[in-house]
Amino acid sequence: MNISLLRPPLAPLGGVAKARHSPCDDSLPRLAQGHEEHPRKTRYSCATGISPITYPHLGFGLGLRKEHYQAVLDRRPPVDWFEAITENYLVPGGKPLYFLERVRNHYPLVLHGVSLSIGSADPLDRDYLRQVKDLAARIEPAWISDHLCFTGVGGVNAHDLLPLPYTGEAVRHVAQRIREVQDCLGRRILVENVSSYLNYRSSEMSEWAFLSAVAEEADCLILLDINNIYVSARNHGFDPLDYLDGVPPERVQQHHLAGHQDYGDYIVDTHDHPVIDPVWALYGEAVQRFGPVSCMIERDARIPPLDTLLEEVERMRAIAAGGQAAHA
Ligand SMILES: [Fe+2]
Repeated sequence: MNISLLRPPLAPLGGVAKARHSPCDDSLPRLAQGHEEHPRKTRYSCATGISPITYPHLGFGLGLRKEHYQAVLDRRPPVDWFEAITENYLVPGGKPLYFLERVRNHYPLVLHGVSLSIGSADPLDRDYLRQVKDLAARIEPAWISDHLCFTGVGGVNAHDLLPLPYTGEAVRHVAQRIREVQDCLGRRILVENVSSYLNYRSSEMSEWAFLSAVAEEADCLILLDINNIYVSARNHGFDPLDYLDGVPPERVQQHHLAGHQDYGDYIVDTHDHPVIDPVWALYGEAVQRFGPVSCMIERDARIPPLDTLLEEVERMRAIAAGGQAAHA
């Protein structure tokens, strides 16, 4: 299948004022009827009664980093879409937003946040959500994602993506907050599995059961990071295929691929190396299970030349093509 045929037409920037909703402290209708801001493309029908996934399949993307802004605009590389770190563009002005808007004129974008702290016991940060909503109105991302974690509590920011205890109480707590965020933003969000380095004694279920339960109860989507599964599987000693088998395919909207640092007894998710072969193999398994899912390469440190990352994008594209042929 030629994935590029599925790319949605680019909406012109600046034509979004009519789509803006009431402020984030207002209540909006729930999204069970489906979100209408993007072209419809149903990948799966769902037998569990939820509305079908309606976000587009974007193809094969890359994290947009400042080191590549000019090259992306000058060369228009063969990347289907870019993922931008939300927090880098919340200030309404300046160089980052200047480049983001110009990249958006040529590529679909998605917004990926690190500050939502959806699992925290602190109140949701409504000012942050309003900023995200304003940015979304400005650049019209295909979707918005953040992490299934907490980044602080009691007003203290840990500056890390901390895992939650996998309990029924935590499922209900997080799902309620995700629903509030979705009501505020007027769209379904994606939550991403984080890599982790500790377990809680209070956990009652596997990480994948927790992720799935949260997604079902919140009626949100899943950003399934394949490298994070690999990292956590090594750190905690579970089978990564059990993880893939335990996630509902109809909820999986996006994958991440990244590199990490292997210290032997444990792995640290550093995003500063190429994707390793076992993670590529696990991605192939994911393609077999989930079919065509938008996927991108994350590199956040030791940023190489753009061409180096483009090689990884092409490898991702080739693995997906092979897996989808087998999946068909
Ligand atoms: Fe990720």
